[in-house]
Amino acid sequence: MVLDDREREKLDDRDDAAFYAEPRLVTHVDDGFRDQLTAVYDEHLSAGARVFDAMSSHVSHLPDRSFERVVGHGMNERELAANDRLTDRFVQNFNETQRLPLADDAFDAVLCAVSVQYLEYPERTFDEFGRVLAPDGTLVVSFSNRMFPTKAVRAWRSASMDGRAALVGEYIDATDRFTDPQVSRCRPERDPFCAVIARGR
Ligand SMILES: C[S@@+](CC[C@H](N)C(=O)[O-])C[C@H]1O[C@@H](n2cnc3c(N)ncnc32)[C@H](O)[C@@H]1O
Repeated sequence: MVLDDREREKLDDRDDAAFYAEPRLVTHVDDGFRDQLTAVYDEHLSAGARVFDAMSSHVSHLPDRSFERVVGHGMNERELAANDRLTDRFVQNFNETQRLPLADDAFDAVLCAVSVQYLEYPERTFDEFGRVLAPDGTLVVSFSNRMFPTKAVRAWRSASMDGRAALVGEYIDATDRFTDPQVSRCRPERDPFCAVIARGR
């Protein structure tokens, strides 16, 4: 395991379902971040790809391109229903259940945008991301310096941007399901943006 019990702790340890019960139809990132993330997706996602957008909301950062399917997961049904890029959707609390209701190797891309900090069991959740990602598919985990601090795990709150990229790399390496994790465009100065990209095994 990458995190110990103390590193998994949150300031607000109440059920995440209560925190996400009401839809938050806000944007969690600024335009500069969003443009950079869409550029990364543009580079790595082909037309016709099967995409799993994990920890999603009403906003999509996908480029204007047609995909075979875009399955969205989140914590609030109304947020997901408002996301017009999704072809399917489901709600699941990953801090309670990590097993995904998705087939092995079902996706060419697994995306997790500005949300990884909320995972209390990232090792098991990333194992599931890897299970559903096809061999040579692409995992993109992105983050900025913004977060709901009371809901982020201690290991994340106390790390620098570079430290967070390293932590995501450790989550990836803790599974046997990815190869070649790379940090892309980590900019710790103003307007921080970081994406960690790996390939399915
Ligand atoms: C800051 S929002 C980011 C949403 C979206 N990815 C975006 O870029 O706008 C954080 C998201 O993390 C997800 N999330 C938070 N806690 C979660 C949990 N315990 N289990 C599963 N997903 C969770 C929810 O989907 C929530 O909308």
